[in-house]
Amino acid sequence: MRYIGNKTRLLPFLLEGMDTLGVTGSVACDPFSGTASVGRALKLDGWRVHSGDVMALSYAFQVARVTLDRTPGFSSRLLGANGDSPAPDDPNASGGTSLRSVIRELESRPPAHGFISEHYSPAGTAARLHGRMYFTAENAGAIDAVREGIESWADSGLLDSDRKQLLLAALIQAADRVANTTGVYASFVKSWQPNSLKPLELRAVRPALPPAPSARGCTAFRGPAAEMLDRAGAVDVVYLDPPYNERQYPGYYHIPELLARGWDPTPELRGKTGLIPDEELRSDWCRRGRCEQALRTVLDHSDARHVLLSYNEEGLIPLPRIEEILRDSGDADSYRRVGQGYRRYRSDSDGPTRRYQGDRVREWLHYVRRR
Ligand SMILES: C[S@@+](CC[C@H](N)C(=O)[O-])C[C@H]1O[C@@H](n2cnc3c(N)ncnc32)[C@H](O)[C@@H]1O
Repeated sequence: MRYIGNKTRLLPFLLEGMDTLGVTGSVACDPFSGTASVGRALKLDGWRVHSGDVMALSYAFQVARVTLDRTPGFSSRLLGANGDSPAPDDPNASGGTSLRSVIRELESRPPAHGFISEHYSPAGTAARLHGRMYFTAENAGAIDAVREGIESWADSGLLDSDRKQLLLAALIQAADRVANTTGVYASFVKSWQPNSLKPLELRAVRPALPPAPSARGCTAFRGPAAEMLDRAGAVDVVYLDPPYNERQYPGYYHIPELLARGWDPTPELRGKTGLIPDEELRSDWCRRGRCEQALRTVLDHSDARHVLLSYNEEGLIPLPRIEEILRDSGDADSYRRVGQGYRRYRSDSDGPTRRYQGDRVREWLHYVRRR
């Protein structure tokens, strides 16, 4: 999924950086997990990963990509009385029917006029009032049908929580591919973009198979990093990838978040873009006056031997302050950082409140050893 701060392209840099910095152990914590790209890569590298994030959309990715050790089988009752056997090309499927068959079943549902159609596509009276064009009427109807299908299966006990999250992750990704945005949901485009005119297509999200028994027992968590670190217990490395600027994630990803949470109870939407209530998701990391304290707090809650922090050079906390805070929190002499330049992710254009400083930007991986 297109997600600000997604580290997929930086994974080789991060894994090589860990080698260079001498980070060893078997248990890792990723409390700002977002799309779970880093947690997945660590798991595939043999780590047991405890992941977390405040966003429900992230929880779906954490379960789908990190917690699950194989693609689960599904109840045949999802396909009606006759059921179906696992697709032969789905070797990880076990029991009942396969993920692939369940996805086909969801895609074959007739379109529904639900919350997404009503509030985020021209099919809805509320959406028309605000001129919202996040999805075409066809795709919104398909998204509603799939979301309602998943919810009703879960309500009737046919899907457990992990299977539900696996399907939600597929829906969030599918919706993102046809969203009429430039990558974030803070605004929609006023004419239909080519991607938004393509039909919704669900693609299975494949769990990471643990390469060794040490990588089993990964966990997911929806909540603040400090709380997650308290629960995680003893870990060897904590990888911190917090927001680094003033863009609050719930305002930029309210629709995927809504898809993850569902709409019962019905949320009260606000503004032209139909934002959801998000007070409890607003992050101190995105507030100039509070981000340094947020870093100190998270460090206080972690007893990991190795601390890694990804932070962009244009972030709210100036580089010398990060160095100072990390040195204070552990063995001061062990502090190191490695950097990598990359092409910036442009979700918005330049404007009165944001001036991009060029196309290249540097990401730092800071390190300090503790205990
Ligand atoms: C830079 S993104 C992480 C990107 C992720 N590494 C990836 O590859 O997709 C920062 C994440 O921190 C989350 N976040 C913000 N404040 C948080 C907090 N106090 N506790 C936990 N997660 C938080 C946001 O929801 C967002 O998903």
